[in-house]
Amino acid sequence: DWTAANIVEDSVAAIREQVGDKHVLCGLSGGVDSAVAAALVHRAVGDQLTCVFVDHGLLRKGEAEQVEKDFVAATGVRLIVKEVADQFLGHLAGVTDPETKRKIIGREFIRTFEDAAREVAEHEGVDFLVQGTLYPDVVESGVGEGAANIKSHHNVGGLPDDLQFTLIEPLRTLFKDEVRAVGEELGLPAAMVWRQPFPGPGLGIRIIGEVTRERLDLLREADAIAREELTRAGLDRDVWQFPVVLLADVRSVGVQGDGRTYGHPVVLRPVSSEDAMTADWSRLPYELLERISTRITNEVRDINRVVLDVTSKPPGTIEWE
Ligand code: XMP
Repeated sequence: DWTAANIVEDSVAAIREQVGDKHVLCGLSGGVDSAVAAALVHRAVGDQLTCVFVDHGLLRKGEAEQVEKDFVAATGVRLIVKEVADQFLGHLAGVTDPETKRKIIGREFIRTFEDAAREVAEHEGVDFLVQGTLYPDVVESGVGEGAANIKSHHNVGGLPDDLQFTLIEPLRTLFKDEVRAVGEELGLPAAMVWRQPFPGPGLGIRIIGEVTRERLDLLREADAIAREELTRAGLDRDVWQFPVVLLADVRSVGVQGDGRTYGHPVVLRPVSSEDAMTADWSRLPYELLERISTRITNEVRDINRVVLDVTSKPPGTIEWE
């Protein structure tokens, strides 16, 4: 009776009843939860839903396209894209302190989303805001009231007075694996449904040092290779997360072909975990590590060394910043 199809059917009916003929807004992050929540709401109320995607330029290779093309193709969702990479990079220029980076990215993200929300609200009105809250989040924050599919409360935390919506949280009763099953049932792209956890500040906190466009491009290439090889080895669903970290202010001497190189190292940080509170470094097969190392140093100009992080959490955190 707990099938993905049943969950979809029940949620769609509940959302339809709650929303009526009103308008709904949903922010897409590129992650599983917001995508599945949006797809469910879209299935329920169609074009009464408008989605907003803030493209801040800090996602991994192909992820913005996944939202803008694949997700839209799979669902038919109406999407507003805010291309703000230049703005974000401008605000991040010269910044190296991890907490400052996080604050800037968080602040700019909210600002951009609010601008978009205000535009939609002015055009057609917005009554509801979708959030991809899962059951464990509900339990953790101590507001779990069992099976309520939709939480009706105003004053969404932190939103300005002129932007007050009622929250719709269609994933409130679901665990992550159920969310993934629902995502598959709704026909979402596999890369999205099975995406590993990824931090909101994105690659901005995986570049140790200043975040620049060139460094983002380097890291995106190295990260894409690591993900591709992990998937090819059939281990992407066993590893909790696999950050690749660019030590952008470090250079080391290497040799390639006939020449001396003086490039940057990347750190591979594959971890296993249940909930990210604690983690252990993943014992990936040497052959896989070798393939990743060889490909990154061959294919990514300016990266001449690949190192492996063998620190558990604690004492290390999963991310480096
Ligand atoms: P740490 O590095 O503290 O990370 O071991 C624990 C988990 O949280 C993720 N993470 C974030 N997720 N916004 C997020 O949505 C953030 O600012 C953020 N910082 C870390 C991290 O990827 C890991 O899964």
